[in-house]
Amino acid sequence: MWARSSFHVSPTVHGHVRVVSEGADENGAVRILILGGSWFVGRVMVTDAVRRDWEVTLFNRGRSGTPPQGVHHIRGDWECPEDLAELPAHGPWDVVLDVAGAVPALVRNAARALADSVDRYVFMSTISAYHDWPYRPVDESSPLWDGDPDLDPGTRRWDPDAYGPLKVGCELAIRREFADSTLFIRPHVILGPGEYVGRLPWWLHRISRGGQVLAPAPPDRTIQPVDVRDVARFTLDLIKRQATGVYNIAAPIGRETYGGMLQACRQATTSTAEFVWVEESWLAERGVLEWTEIPLWRTWPTAWAMNAEKARAAGLVCRPLHETVTDTWEWLQAGGAPVDHERFAEHGLSPEREAELLKEWAVSRPAPR
Ligand SMILES: NC(=O)c1ccc[n+]([C@@H]2O[C@H](COP(=O)([O-])OP(=O)(O)OC[C@H]3O[C@@H](n4cnc5c(N)ncnc54)[C@H](OP(=O)(O)O)[C@@H]3O)[C@@H](O)[C@H]2O)c1
Repeated sequence: MWARSSFHVSPTVHGHVRVVSEGADENGAVRILILGGSWFVGRVMVTDAVRRDWEVTLFNRGRSGTPPQGVHHIRGDWECPEDLAELPAHGPWDVVLDVAGAVPALVRNAARALADSVDRYVFMSTISAYHDWPYRPVDESSPLWDGDPDLDPGTRRWDPDAYGPLKVGCELAIRREFADSTLFIRPHVILGPGEYVGRLPWWLHRISRGGQVLAPAPPDRTIQPVDVRDVARFTLDLIKRQATGVYNIAAPIGRETYGGMLQACRQATTSTAEFVWVEESWLAERGVLEWTEIPLWRTWPTAWAMNAEKARAAGLVCRPLHETVTDTWEWLQAGGAPVDHERFAEHGLSPEREAELLKEWAVSRPAPR
């Protein structure tokens, strides 16, 4: 039986009654409800929370794997009002962590359903919430997209243009229900074992194949991906401290480079691949799609100018990128398979296209000065 901490009730912004705990139980265990928690970021959050001996409740449809032992698993669909209505009966909790919400109206429904059973609402948002990204540097005070807290776009298909405004709508929906008892995490690109988006897995597989590998110059371009385990550790540390507000998460600007990432892939895969650094304007002229066809390549230098110093001052530690690369390759080699996701297929150049581009570059590249 899980121990319950003492709690009292207080009115919510809507005049409902909300359970307000007086902190974690006497053993320091946080009672956390995780919405999602079984694909990538959420899975690591769950593992970390279990390692901390927290009282973990998971709410998802149960389609993707068995939760770790000791986790209370509620099978349910956040699209289904009845499932959400039954959820509070399994509480109360100190905090809810919505890892994967992306439809404002659904996030709103969940927040309303939980208004009386959790103290604080934590939401995994994204750098894409910033209106000016990737065209200007961003910090936590940068302008956001306009978001609608009641919007349901009617489709669940991935749409890069809708993603940022939808996540802002989710943030607004949560803030409307939970006011300042909210914590929004806005990470830059997240990599690591379990990644289903397909960025680092594509690069690792490509480089392990060897031969001449087309790479977007310059190799010393700074990049800021963050390891999923560091995102989880920092988020749970904040939760433990009952932190509220907004935190960006990214590796320090200037520490990691694109060339360093590819070298780390070559080392991890023990490949003899030869990188052919091709001018990015030349690639852009030929319609090569940045971000997807060549994962993590973006021509705007400010794509990698996210200020995450607030998080660093609060204890964020980002491991070196080569560790993320090595561990992701080990995970793949050990049979690790990402969940099936529509975004995976959109990443990477086909071998034929890469060979054509390399052939053309070999004859058309500017002569060295
Ligand atoms: N990847 C990046 O580079 C990056 C960067 C910045 C921010 N982010 C953010 O990080 C988060 C990544 O999330 P993730 O996908 O890795 O999270 P996750 O929590 O590991 O996986 C998604 C979860 O949602 C559950 N789920 C899906 N539809 C559901 C439904 N209708 N009802 C109940 N449960 C449902 C899935 O389980 P079932 O299928 O079993 O239901 C699964 O547990 C996202 O919020 C994203 O915006 C990602």
